[in-house]
Amino acid sequence: MTSYTGGILTISDKGSRGEREDTSGPELQAMLIKQGFSVVAYAIVPDEIAAIQETFRSWADEKNIDLILSTGGTGVSPNDLTPEATRPLLDREIPGIGEAMRQSSLQKTPNAILSRGLAGTRKQSLIINLPGSKKAARENLEAVLPALQHAIYKIKGGSKDCGS
Ligand code: MTE
Repeated sequence: MTSYTGGILTISDKGSRGEREDTSGPELQAMLIKQGFSVVAYAIVPDEIAAIQETFRSWADEKNIDLILSTGGTGVSPNDLTPEATRPLLDREIPGIGEAMRQSSLQKTPNAILSRGLAGTRKQSLIINLPGSKKAARENLEAVLPALQHAIYKIKGGSKDCGS
């Protein structure tokens, strides 16, 4: 199995001020490592569009990280800005990833409809927005994780037939 790189960005005002321990970031990190990824970047930023975009740009354009996961800020509170920060940076959206996460999450909670998380590519990176709580982040990632190695292979121009 190819070892792809991963980066985890926790988006939380309280987390960035050190007022709340980030339990979602380490959870996602453990899940990626178990799946064979090597996690090369981790950061916490506040719910601010500029800070979120700066990290995505740096991780995709300079560090060329294969899979960039964000956690938090996908909901409908006034300060939930992750999708607004993410959308303008994506070259192509991959709606099926968000659809699968919400469909699977609906079996756990009706509140799943409140996550507006996006997914898509920027250059050769795959960016996925996950909700903020440890439980929600884990449940959402679980729904799509089995397809991500293949997704990254294809994003990089891999030409092997999908069925093989
Ligand atoms: N999805 C799953 N699988 N499990 C959850 O507990 N919580 C929901 C939703 N998606 C949840 C979930 C809730 S309560 C909210 S408000 C939204 O994700 C957005 O979360 P965020 O604002 O922390 O990103």
